[in-house]
Amino acid sequence: MEDKLKNILNQAKDEISRVKSLADLVTFQNKYLGRKEPLSQILRGIKDLSKEERPKIGKLGNEIRQEIENLVESVRLKLSGQGDLKPEIDLTLPGVKIHEGSLHPLTLFLRKTIDIFVRMGFEVIPGPELEEAKYNFDLLNIPKDHPSRDVWDTFYVDGPSLVANRQSSETRHAKNDMRKATIELLLRTHTSPMQIRAMEKRKPPVRLIVPGRVFRHEATDAGHETTFYQCEGLVIDKDIKVTDLIGTVKLFLQSFFGKQVKVRVRPHFYAFTEPSMDFDMGCLLCGGKGCSVCGKTGWLEMMGSGMVHPKVLKNMKVDPAKFTGFAFGLGIDRLMMLYYGIDDIRLSYQNDLRFLKQF
Ligand code: FA5
Repeated sequence: MEDKLKNILNQAKDEISRVKSLADLVTFQNKYLGRKEPLSQILRGIKDLSKEERPKIGKLGNEIRQEIENLVESVRLKLSGQGDLKPEIDLTLPGVKIHEGSLHPLTLFLRKTIDIFVRMGFEVIPGPELEEAKYNFDLLNIPKDHPSRDVWDTFYVDGPSLVANRQSSETRHAKNDMRKATIELLLRTHTSPMQIRAMEKRKPPVRLIVPGRVFRHEATDAGHETTFYQCEGLVIDKDIKVTDLIGTVKLFLQSFFGKQVKVRVRPHFYAFTEPSMDFDMGCLLCGGKGCSVCGKTGWLEMMGSGMVHPKVLKNMKVDPAKFTGFAFGLGIDRLMMLYYGIDDIRLSYQNDLRFLKQF
């Protein structure tokens, strides 16, 4: 019995040197330590040995089992690269290159925009992309059936969510009488609804921006997309004037481009501002000569703006006799195009890696 045990150990020591992989090691382990293999059988049979032999063979059998287990463990460590044997992986082979992504130019641009306004003391707030017509139009002085509502090519959202159970103020105390009210939902056409939403929770003075995505149901070309980004700005305080608006916009553009840029202010109509004006920037893509992006005019419309209309101030529960304010809606995509020299807005939304890898 003693010789049998010693033979098992010698054979194991000889065979372990031929183990070259973890798969070989499993085979080795099963062969020498498996339940049905000779060593286990001997150990199981100890109870049947004579009184004299039992302790001797028991001790030797357990020592040999431990020794074989130690052999298995040390080879396992070496094969998995933690021992001093060469690991199975060839560390001298070149690795698999991990392609690092980069931020989308619009994200880079938005971050820079936010950074500049934050340094000017503006608060940054988010807003919902799925909006109620009340905020997108009505409270911005664009009532239903008003012709200016048609100017905004709107994606209306249909469905059961349109009808909500709402408790009217008149019936609030009348035995749980709920009135069905229709909420007209749409994808916001601009970031301006956030002017109203923000003022539901604030009192002047305020100085805030709302960067975000907006949607319009319109034909696309080099300068127009159906989804694009705007950055709303709203300042309300005592004695805010048009010159504050113009100064703020110029300072922003100057900080962004790091130089004086050509800006043109044009009167325009927006129902929620009075007076209203658009800011154009000299097209940096064609140097003002005229191209497909600027519609051959040499100027690119960057933003709509104006002094907050007194009716809108009232909708914000702000007294127009005490406070005035300006608002603007900056077209982020167009400004980004001028900054990076991109000649088609649609490139931003096509996920083409040849375009994206440049940033
Ligand atoms: C508005 O959206 C107003 N809410 C702006 C405003 C805010 C006026 C506050 C007054 C006070 P407008 O439709 O002009 O205005 O759009 C603003 C800017 O968004 C444009 O100057 C332009 O830069 C950008 N823009 C408009 N339509 C598109 C489009 N289809 N694709 C890309 N950019 C667009």
